[in-house]
Amino acid sequence: MRIKYILILNSIILFSACATKPIMYDSFKPGEIWLDNNGVHVNAHGGGILFDDGRYYWFGEHKTEGENGNFANVGVHCYSSRDLYNWTDEGIALAVMPDSSGSDIEKGCILERPKVIKNNKTGQYVMWFHLEPKGKGYKGALSGVAVSDNITGPYTYIKSVRPNAGHFPFNVLDIHYGDSPSLGQRFDGGSLPGNIDTLNILGRDMKGGQMARDMTLFADDDGKAYHIYSSEENSTLHIAELSDDYLSHTGKYGRFFPGRFMEAPAIFKRNNKYYLMMSGCTGWAPNQARSAVSDGIFGEWKELGDPCIGDSMHTTFHSQSTFILPVQGKKETYIYMGDRWTPQNAIDGRYVWLPVRFEEDRFFIEWKDQWNWENRDN
Ligand code: DGJ
Repeated sequence: MRIKYILILNSIILFSACATKPIMYDSFKPGEIWLDNNGVHVNAHGGGILFDDGRYYWFGEHKTEGENGNFANVGVHCYSSRDLYNWTDEGIALAVMPDSSGSDIEKGCILERPKVIKNNKTGQYVMWFHLEPKGKGYKGALSGVAVSDNITGPYTYIKSVRPNAGHFPFNVLDIHYGDSPSLGQRFDGGSLPGNIDTLNILGRDMKGGQMARDMTLFADDDGKAYHIYSSEENSTLHIAELSDDYLSHTGKYGRFFPGRFMEAPAIFKRNNKYYLMMSGCTGWAPNQARSAVSDGIFGEWKELGDPCIGDSMHTTFHSQSTFILPVQGKKETYIYMGDRWTPQNAIDGRYVWLPVRFEEDRFFIEWKDQWNWENRDN
């Protein structure tokens, strides 16, 4: 009798658990597990957001379990939301190709920091991402592009390139026309001399195209779009104009912050000024953020220092920038989106979203355990 009673009680508990509606969030909890409509932790790392027809669409790297999960085993995941707290799984927007298919985006490649913008002339959604062909580590330094007529995909992979082959930037220096290091020479952030231009990595890569790793996209109010990426062995940021269809580079580009080794660029525009947030180069480990402001997309860019304030500010609150989102219909509301990487178990990576606050021409980010539109204090 007692056993029968326990079984009935168990099934009542189980039934009520199954019947429970998915969690409805009404705040952001930076760094915590964030469940989607199916009760699964959101899987969209190194991502960015596009607002389209009343909804936000979050695109990011789909990670899998373990260390191997840092490679692209699945593709680019897409989620949608109306309120930014609650996210609906829209599936894989760009799928990697099967093992041994020989495709540039074959399963096991490195596909990072996907960003999507809409081209209002063609009506197409255009995705760019950092691509490293399978089995070659980070030596490729390529940018891939894919398109779709539907925002959630499926996206069709077009090509991957080293941007701006055959073109010098508009702010080229005399030294870039001179000698350059051999293609086989390896560099890393710790072994480069203070004056990066003495190495002429730019000139070395002029013919074949410039290296492009961490990246973002920016579509300006006039319809022009830009690809912003860490170049020249990660030492220098390039900002490059995209063609009218957003599918290639025009050859017009500038180099900024030479020798500052900036990764993880995130850009936004406010009151006709352009702002950048970036990290240093320490792999998956977090480091101190940098920020910069400019009156135009092509400069003069002026560094503003670390925008983070408070405990753990020196590690960007244990995160790395990926995007800064202007919130629709809310004046002066921008969200810092960062990744808290867990490379030993990639799928467990967390998201650190915090409100951006402004003081004159500078922006700041402060830690909050939990926040929403009502209590963001700015
Ligand atoms: C730092 C970059 O920001 C990430 O996107 C990723 O490429 C890691 N490095 C890999 O170590």
